[in-house]
Amino acid sequence: MSHNTFGHMFRVTTWGESHGPALGCVVDGCPPGIAFTLEDIQTFLDRRKPGQSRFVTQRREADEVKVLSGVLPQDDGVTFITTGTPISLMIENTDQRSKDYGEISRQYRPGHADYTYDVKYGLRDYRGGGRSSARETAARVAAGALARKVLPDVSYRGALVQIGKHRVNRANWNWNEVDNNAFFCPDAEMVPVWEAYLDEIRKAGSSVGAVIEVVAEGVPAGLGAPIYAKLDQEIAAGLMSINAVKGVEIGEGFNSAELTGEENADEMRIGNDGRPRFLSNHAGGILGGISTGEPIVARFAVKPTSSILTTRQSIDRDGKEVELRTKGRHDPCVGIRAVPIGEAMLACTIADHYLRDRGQTGRLG
Ligand SMILES: Cc1cc2nc3c(=O)[nH]c(=O)nc-3n(C[C@H](O)[C@H](O)[C@H](O)COP(=O)(O)O)c2cc1C
Repeated sequence: MSHNTFGHMFRVTTWGESHGPALGCVVDGCPPGIAFTLEDIQTFLDRRKPGQSRFVTQRREADEVKVLSGVLPQDDGVTFITTGTPISLMIENTDQRSKDYGEISRQYRPGHADYTYDVKYGLRDYRGGGRSSARETAARVAAGALARKVLPDVSYRGALVQIGKHRVNRANWNWNEVDNNAFFCPDAEMVPVWEAYLDEIRKAGSSVGAVIEVVAEGVPAGLGAPIYAKLDQEIAAGLMSINAVKGVEIGEGFNSAELTGEENADEMRIGNDGRPRFLSNHAGGILGGISTGEPIVARFAVKPTSSILTTRQSIDRDGKEVELRTKGRHDPCVGIRAVPIGEAMLACTIADHYLRDRGQTGRLG
């Protein structure tokens, strides 16, 4: 049994390997009648693509998306309308260098998926890691761009909030700053700190972990399917499925362990418009697995890139102990490019729950 599909009504299957001719996704269950252009998808792919600054991998992938099915092209030559049938999106791989991986074809990079793929499948695509390569996440980002169209009034935004021990100052948070720097950093004062720190890490051939925050605003109250498909549960699963993610939290998350009931519970009042209003959002927009209508806030932690230039101890396929140094082009901090991937997983999960909710209650328009 293989698992390359997520979602129930908005179902995304990703396919392809990093060193094959192409990769992509099939989105099944996207409602008919949604208009989009390739530019709408490309915008998000461009935010994820490698080679955009010295702080990410220097692979040069154009990541140009093509649409193969599920749409009716319009007379203007740029607009597609979804037909409700499977939408297939393809991105060609143009900058593979399999020779970068020759030496490690039989050796296990500590911290990577080499050993476990071999244990499970008896063989592995060592040229960049095959399906374990984050190249696969380009397909998710493409699917996420379509998911955004399902609920166009919802905004999905993400930001990098921590690299190594350096956290942003939340008092300086400015969403407009996020696209002004190479880190998706919302705190302009932290940018030079991260620059200097990552330069050090990069020059040392090392890597470092990070924390990303993703926020969905405008999500209607009522989405989520207790008790085994709670909205927070499925957001966590989607984020945890991203390569290198080792932790996910919603709202106050692990910090809620330090709070009292008075501090943590989001008090309620009736707003001037006569509608319920929350005075805070420690819950991160979800109670009982159902959206409250407040912003949905999730954070995820990514580990340091395992492919580093420093020599590490490992073993090979034959059970021999080896000293291993990973050459090739790698991200010194995968957290940077994980920002648009996190947004995409959040968008896909919320679109899926919106469509499921229509089936379950028929209440939301
Ligand atoms: C955007 C992004 C880029 C990544 N780039 C690299 C990389 O250049 N080298 C590497 O060893 N791992 C990289 N990773 C992480 C690996 O794909 C991941 O660690 C590996 O598949 C093992 O899975 P796990 O860390 O989830 O256990 C990247 C992850 C993301 C999200």
